[in-house]
Amino acid sequence: MISEFLSESLRTTALSAAMRGAGLAVRFLPIPQPTILVGPGASGRLGRTIAGFGHSKILIVTDSIISKLGLLDDLTTALTAGGAEYVVFDAITPDAPIPLIETGIDFYLENDCDAIVAFGGGSSMDASKAIAAAVSNPGKSLRELAGYFKGLNTPVKIYAVPTTAGTGSEVTVAAVISDPESHTKMVIVDTRLVPKMAALDPCLMTGLPPHITAATGIDALTHAIEAFVGHWASPGTDDMALSAVGLIFDNLRVAYSDGKNLEAREKMALAATYAGFAFTRANVGYVHAIAHQFGGKYHTPHGLANAIMLPLVLKYSLPAITDRLALLAVRAKLGRESEAEEVLAQKFLDAVDQLNLDLGIPTFLAALKESDIPQLAEAACREAHTGYPVPRYMSQAVCEDIIRQVLPPAMPAKKPARRGKKTA
Ligand SMILES: [Fe+2]
Repeated sequence: MISEFLSESLRTTALSAAMRGAGLAVRFLPIPQPTILVGPGASGRLGRTIAGFGHSKILIVTDSIISKLGLLDDLTTALTAGGAEYVVFDAITPDAPIPLIETGIDFYLENDCDAIVAFGGGSSMDASKAIAAAVSNPGKSLRELAGYFKGLNTPVKIYAVPTTAGTGSEVTVAAVISDPESHTKMVIVDTRLVPKMAALDPCLMTGLPPHITAATGIDALTHAIEAFVGHWASPGTDDMALSAVGLIFDNLRVAYSDGKNLEAREKMALAATYAGFAFTRANVGYVHAIAHQFGGKYHTPHGLANAIMLPLVLKYSLPAITDRLALLAVRAKLGRESEAEEVLAQKFLDAVDQLNLDLGIPTFLAALKESDIPQLAEAACREAHTGYPVPRYMSQAVCEDIIRQVLPPAMPAKKPARRGKKTA
């Protein structure tokens, strides 16, 4: 194991020592933990709490659907009752692109805000973090803030209300945003970007459509698994990752088929947060590295891209992580500790396949083109090898082969149109 790690480290260090060093710094730096409010009505309780913090004006960052559905009501009513002023920027779109975030920055400055409530899915939360970093570091563009600790000044305070159970952004150090010029994702990493407080309110999640529940839930599962099987896993991250995996196997199918089930929704929200705790310290791996390329190139929803790639990357990684997958299998109640590790690990792989099937996740990426694969694999390997503590090294050729497995099935050739006289 040690020689394998050293061998991998030599390869990856050659690729980007500076970036990896900065990533390692995140591993050992203390990461603040937000105060978490959990349960029905938690968004209102968060509003009542932060209304007393003395902010001059709070910017609520969200999307128009959340705004129209009235999901902000508990929060805004509590803010008003507590005498706090706020404005709403509800223009966030999936994979928020740089120009949109720049509009949010202008909106924040025009309204003299001094704090942000990130209210929504991963895109709203990550956009909020990017706005917070940018308004606190006016001399730097968003592109200049991408990377590790690029902002000198501490970002303004962020409070988070996730409306999906997936990204875990309410407890993480990173903001992922889209660069429409390069068609890539950019990541701003800073331990000071972790929200000060987060509300996990299952009432905000009961209206999520099943396909979003599925994709975001598998995103959380991927966070937990990649954190657990990577080289940076620690006893602390293991506890969180195992708890998340157990909760997800117990509750994701229920949340998917019975979206109004508050207990399943709350447990999925907790699972996503636990997985966030784990991966923001132990990082992710090739599943995310590849999924980010699909997101940048084809705008594939992040959770869906992860869900499609997770089984294949796990199968490739199996020789290096059999023992770890066996532990996950036991926690997911797929077998007993007394069973052989190989048997348990295979049970876990089979269970991930079955979970994807039950949640209607396709086994291929409809948008994927053969001609794009070399570039996608190269970018994925570059991302993984410059920041992720992957358990089994993957060459670009192997990565291409793995991505090739999710090409859409070939369409049957069209029959040539018959020539002849038309009949009425
Ligand atoms: Fe993710």
